[in-house]
Amino acid sequence: MQSDMPSQTAMAAAFLRALHPVVDAPPVFEDPLVRAFLPGYQQRFLDRLSALAPRWRRSFRQRRSALGSMRAQIVVRSRYADDALASARAAGDVARLLVLAAGLDTSAWRHAPLPVTEVDHPATQRWKRETLVRRGQALPETLRLLPVDFERQRLEDELDAPGSPQFVTWLGTTYYLSRDAIAGTLHALAQRSAPGSRLVLDYWEEAPPGSRDGVLLWGTRLATALQFEPMRTFLTPQMLAGLVSGTGWRMAEALDADAQNRRYLADRDDDLTVPAFAHLALLERTG
Ligand SMILES: C[S@@+](CC[C@H](N)C(=O)[O-])C[C@H]1O[C@@H](n2cnc3c(N)ncnc32)[C@H](O)[C@@H]1O
Repeated sequence: MQSDMPSQTAMAAAFLRALHPVVDAPPVFEDPLVRAFLPGYQQRFLDRLSALAPRWRRSFRQRRSALGSMRAQIVVRSRYADDALASARAAGDVARLLVLAAGLDTSAWRHAPLPVTEVDHPATQRWKRETLVRRGQALPETLRLLPVDFERQRLEDELDAPGSPQFVTWLGTTYYLSRDAIAGTLHALAQRSAPGSRLVLDYWEEAPPGSRDGVLLWGTRLATALQFEPMRTFLTPQMLAGLVSGTGWRMAEALDADAQNRRYLADRDDDLTVPAFAHLALLERTG
């Protein structure tokens, strides 16, 4: 990422979360607040789309379109994180929700009064805070903002450690980081997380060139690189297991794209499908 520019991919991911209930039925993930966080031109676009008759809105969505696959990946990972947080809270206390690389995440508003710390690149976090303040949108008192650049700062130097288990989400980000930054962040999180803490993250692996998903990934890489957010690290499940091993985290659950599609997107009539390169993992801090 460029040091002075807020993340454009964060805005794109938030836009797709806001678009999802407008064009997909039934929605997999509902985030009614996210529209208000978007840049004005995106809000106006969604307002106009929402005003169309349902059959016109549905026709906006092309079957098995690239945008549909990326939308599926983004809403499924957020739904998975919300489901895992709900089970962690049902199983016992969650001292804090730590949202790494938050972008335009709305968890602090949706899960209030749960204490939430958002960690993000300083440029993205500043943009989010200033935009919300300018629009008169209050930040919850339970929200703490912590600017950290994972490539230049050590998370363990900036982050405090709650005495009891916390829940961490780290979505839409590993592929933009170096392998060292991913490994360093896993180590830092383990140091700042009590045993029993849980961490949800997503990661992508290379897709065969020429396959439908290979073309989608190539186009996404090109688009994000042009937005000054080049993708840097692709991991197989075995590579992720290697990075996790010895950090103090254990793999509690791993979902490849097929498992995500079976769990969240089965029995639909719209072909909304997570692309094969997208993986989800739930880690647990060992004692
Ligand atoms: C695609 S967005 C994902 C945002 C959000 N988690 C979501 O799922 O919508 C990528 C996020 O990674 C953050 N990011 C990228 N590089 C970073 C770095 N070196 N340090 C901290 N955050 C970084 C960006 O600021 C942005 O918020």
